[in-house]
Amino acid sequence: MEPRKTIYLDHAATSFPKPEKVKQAVLDHFERYSASPGRSGHSMSLAASRSLFDARETIAAFFHVDDSRKVIFTRNVTESLNLAIYGMVREGDHVVTTSMEHNSVMRPLRDLEARGIIQLTVVSSSPEGLADIQGLARAVQSGNPRLLVVNHASNVTGTLVDLKRIAEIKGSAYLLVDAAQTAGSIPIHLDSLDVDLFAFTGHKALQGPQGTGGLILKTGQEPLLPLMQGGTGSHSEFEQQPDFLPDRFESGTPNGCGFAGLAAGISAVEEWSIPALREHEKKMTERLLEGLLSMDRIHVLGPRDPDKQTAVLSFQVDGISPSDVGFQLDREFGICVRTGLHCAPAAHRTIGTFPQGTVRISMGMTNSMADVEAALEALEWIISR
Ligand SMILES: Cc1ncc(COP(=O)(O)O)c(C=O)c1O
Repeated sequence: MEPRKTIYLDHAATSFPKPEKVKQAVLDHFERYSASPGRSGHSMSLAASRSLFDARETIAAFFHVDDSRKVIFTRNVTESLNLAIYGMVREGDHVVTTSMEHNSVMRPLRDLEARGIIQLTVVSSSPEGLADIQGLARAVQSGNPRLLVVNHASNVTGTLVDLKRIAEIKGSAYLLVDAAQTAGSIPIHLDSLDVDLFAFTGHKALQGPQGTGGLILKTGQEPLLPLMQGGTGSHSEFEQQPDFLPDRFESGTPNGCGFAGLAAGISAVEEWSIPALREHEKKMTERLLEGLLSMDRIHVLGPRDPDKQTAVLSFQVDGISPSDVGFQLDREFGICVRTGLHCAPAAHRTIGTFPQGTVRISMGMTNSMADVEAALEALEWIISR
């Protein structure tokens, strides 16, 4: 019997399978120049530094950033967001955010609020997950916040946020964007967006390995404090952290193999081209939406419009729990989806699916229309049983 094919529809969690060139780049790094970058000064160490520099340049060019020193490497977007939030706010500050944020935004903010360090305003989004721009503008005007934090797209409903409009209402606040769900799938030109701190993760649509991410600074002059301090390989004669970019924010031996892989992932995305990829994902979203909406017992959440969302769809099935649907998709059909709250309880409260959560299908570069049809057929079978 032929082994059953796995159909992977969980790209919003992490992309799979990674492009062949990503595996090759990681292996190559391991085998040829996995020395300590920026520290030892021998030829292998220099090659490791060069590889990190190349990855930083690749990322800067990809997001249209003029100077790659403004790209700070982190382990993932969670670390980027923690660096931005804890590093930017001071005692007594006000922070404004939306009710569609992931816990990697909510938890640090709730922590600061609980300790009396900040005052937090969470502006409710619509039941489709759409940001309330007027409500955010009012909160900004009345509260004069230090930081305004929004995602670029929700990981629960895929709902896209118009960053241009958010930037127009940010006032004197620093705008921090969580681009976990859009970096690598939606065109992003930071040179024409007034975003002060841009947080991304490497292992989702950018196709990189897990353990890679970054925070991009608009000017490099933001009053950002480091989360960690330690060895950087630079200015080792001083016991104080260097004050220049990116070393000020990058202590400890970096994930050289990972960032070599991430640069290769970005090159795979560029081979597709982001606009072509977006079209591919929009077509799959459209077909999945059409199929799901035609099934009586399925309730689709979110904007239900491929132009207003990423290739992420959340739904509930009458009479069957999300976890049961996910279990049957996996066991009976080899289809991998995510179920539950997706680390975003506030988002589920907003769209009315707390605490049971939803079934989330999320598509990516390696999916085809055949995968979408297989998921729809499988769901019909589960419902009719
Ligand atoms: C919107 C959003 N923010 C943050 C994260 C956290 O990502 P990571 O685990 O890569 O830090 C995710 C991942 O699911 C996400 O979708």
